[in-house]
Amino acid sequence: MSTEAESPRFPEGFRWGTSTSAYQVEGAVDADGRGESIWDRFCRRPGAIENGDTGEVAADQYRRRDEDLALMAELGTNAHRFSLAWPRILPEGGGRIEKRGLDHYDRFIDGLLERGITPLPTLYHWDLPQALEDRGGWRNRDTAHRFAEYAAVCFDAFGDRVRDWITINEPWIVGLLGHQLGLHAPGEKDLRSSVTVMHHLLLAHGLAVGELRAEARRPDARAGIAYSLFPHTPADPGSAADRAAAHASDGYVNRWFLDPVHGRGYPADMRAHWEGVVGELDFVQDGDLDTIAAGSDFIGVNYYTRRIVSARPGDGPWPWKVEPGRDEVERTDLGWEIVPDDLTALLLRLHRDYPGVPLMITENGAIYGDEPGEDGEVHDTRRIAFLHSHLSAVHRAMAEGAPVEGYYHWSLIDNFEWAMGYWPRFGLVHLDRETQRRTVKDSGRWYARVAGSGVLPPAAGTP
Ligand code: FCB
Repeated sequence: MSTEAESPRFPEGFRWGTSTSAYQVEGAVDADGRGESIWDRFCRRPGAIENGDTGEVAADQYRRRDEDLALMAELGTNAHRFSLAWPRILPEGGGRIEKRGLDHYDRFIDGLLERGITPLPTLYHWDLPQALEDRGGWRNRDTAHRFAEYAAVCFDAFGDRVRDWITINEPWIVGLLGHQLGLHAPGEKDLRSSVTVMHHLLLAHGLAVGELRAEARRPDARAGIAYSLFPHTPADPGSAADRAAAHASDGYVNRWFLDPVHGRGYPADMRAHWEGVVGELDFVQDGDLDTIAAGSDFIGVNYYTRRIVSARPGDGPWPWKVEPGRDEVERTDLGWEIVPDDLTALLLRLHRDYPGVPLMITENGAIYGDEPGEDGEVHDTRRIAFLHSHLSAVHRAMAEGAPVEGYYHWSLIDNFEWAMGYWPRFGLVHLDRETQRRTVKDSGRWYARVAGSGVLPPAAGTP
């Protein structure tokens, strides 16, 4: 093998990033006039969160802003994805602006830029102001308009320093876990709500893009959605029925969002499924699909694992069944299969199906529970191997032409993992929740060296 093949080099300007979201790291839920969010409310529901955990303190980043900025400087990454908390900026969801909330993010963004770190803010990473939920939340079309109002406030406040924006994080997961299975805030179980909400989230994205394009704003600004994309594998690749089931489920998880945003409207096969299950989609109004297709400048890829699907009857009203992973495939501590090759295939598929649209890996990571050893260090070699295999996968896709601009590892630091609470550790940095002490894991140091050199070492060992 040539050295070139052994040591893939990423292009100059590649974004080496870390990823977080407000409710998962900030804590300080009552600070500086922050309004209540649906996650504050949901966490108080008995049994909703493992161990009765809440995001009340999380990694206390709102108060430890400077410490975490220093941490990122130590890692030497050049990009950071984080989210703005809507209830800190517009505590009632719309109307009155809370300047102290804006000030926090002002200082955070300035702090990133001073350290050579390009900010990539997400506007909505699931912490809807409770005041809007009280008026129907995402089931109510008006919430999409309130989102555009909030987006405009953020564009005005930070647009001089921020070029790229993520509007919405994972619309499918919001619909599925928040409104269909009741596992995330607001904890609803209703299929029709779920599909309504997903439409309003896409509408919100389109309306926000419209705001971003308004004349007074910077002409080079860009916006995209971070999707939870799952490559699909037919349980038996030799079976036409399983292949059809995999394609159908891909419509539910992936195409339902990507197609309309990129100007193709809702995919007909999935639209027929949805209508069969919940009735007419009359919340899709004239002109909505034009608004949704207003223009996304990049595709944010959140990738963790694949979905194996067969044509057996499913648990829900779908003509497919999600099958367990394969025994021979390695897994993370949560049991998710580790399949980096599917990331290569996914990136190439996006490149083929939505040509010319830049791609960013906005999330990728793994739960490994490694704790500090006697030497005080966290030797999380499995995370290093995970990073290595997935960065190789990204590089292979780029070598075949996929226009990938950056990779944002989930996560910078161990944090509040929604309904699972704090036990899952995704961080490059270990968090001791008792003391709030941060310890850079071996994986963090390894990532720092790769980010610094732009070169992936031949094996998962030390560069
Ligand atoms: C994604 C979420 C992110 C985090 C990771 C593990 O679905 O966007 O907040 O929870 O999963």
